[in-house]
Amino acid sequence: MAERGRVVHITGARPNFPKAAPVIAALTERGVEQLLVHTGQHYDDRLSRVFFDELGLPDPDLNLGVGSGSHAVQTAAVMVGLEELFLRDRPALVVVYGDVNSTVAAALVAAKLQIPVAHVEAGLRSFDVTMPEELNRRLTDQLSDLLFVTSPEAIGHLAREGVAQQRIHFVGNPMIDTLLAHLDAFDPVQARAGLDLGLSDTTAYLVATLHRPANVDDPASVRQLVSVLHKAAERLPVVIPLHPRGRVALESAGLSTSSGVIVTDPLPYSTFMGLVRGAAAVITDSGGVQEETTVLGVPCLTMRPNTERPVTITHGTNQLVTVDGVLPALDEVLAAPGSVRPAPVGSRPPLWDGAAGHRIAAIIAHQVEST
Ligand code: UD1
Repeated sequence: MAERGRVVHITGARPNFPKAAPVIAALTERGVEQLLVHTGQHYDDRLSRVFFDELGLPDPDLNLGVGSGSHAVQTAAVMVGLEELFLRDRPALVVVYGDVNSTVAAALVAAKLQIPVAHVEAGLRSFDVTMPEELNRRLTDQLSDLLFVTSPEAIGHLAREGVAQQRIHFVGNPMIDTLLAHLDAFDPVQARAGLDLGLSDTTAYLVATLHRPANVDDPASVRQLVSVLHKAAERLPVVIPLHPRGRVALESAGLSTSSGVIVTDPLPYSTFMGLVRGAAAVITDSGGVQEETTVLGVPCLTMRPNTERPVTITHGTNQLVTVDGVLPALDEVLAAPGSVRPAPVGSRPPLWDGAAGHRIAAIIAHQVEST
């Protein structure tokens, strides 16, 4: 194995960690030699360290410590650090996750060195090129040799972009592996108690998470958003774990001035999922939360004009809302409590069954052994 090179996983930002954990664990079971790299895109313990501890991820073998910066600065720093590593210790395969800047940076460096790339969560498309993630997805998929898709429509997107069929593997959703593996730890009562939110065990509440540039970077949007969250808080208390991006803007627009708004720091995985599990509804612009609420059967109002995860609408609990549409949609959901749980259509999206990590590991092991 040593002369063949290792499988190198590239992680960097919070949403990467629950996707990588089951893949790394399944490859470990198969005895595949691996190296885990953290680019340092997220360096805050609350966005990074806590996830490693909780998800049983091994400590990264290497942290590039790239930190924050403009897109070009951040992407370039990851590329420079990885090029050095890949030249020194030529991997058999580089595995990248999701759609963050670290993902595309790693794929580009590996492809230029003719090192095979596997992309976990390939083929998702919002068709909205104003989102940096959409560019990251498209480019990463063009550079990848193994494309692991989480939902069937992704296969069609990739085929239309000219990706050869034999490179595409519909394996299910490894982030949902992580969710199902930790389900017993998602205890709404314990999550609330641990956070001292001032909510009784029986008080209904909402959870909101907002961090997308389109929602939190423009002062006019932020003011509108804060006003909507205040109105939502007149219906039910809203717990808002705040991502560092947008924190200052949202707070300066008076987010915490409503008594029904409870702002917290970013939360550990099980605490956050426990809160979500017990929520009457979630208001979000996150990609992962759309999927997690679908499996937990919690109504999800996504404040975006589009989603790259339509399966969460067709097979789940998600609906897209505009800033003006949030309150009417919320009122409808609150007027019919229980109507959304369990997830409609009676089933989860196909292959969201807890075994995606094993499927991915089987294909990776085969690829590495045959090279
Ligand atoms: C990144 C991803 C986004 C994902 C999100 C999840 C890209 C383009 N975006 O967005 O797709 O949904 O992660 O969290 O890769 N910051 C800190 N501490 C940290 C990291 C960031 O305070 O540990 C602050 C900094 O002010 C930084 C800002 O957050 O400038 C943005 O960080 P960045 O990594 O560029 O993107 P995210 O908004 O976190």
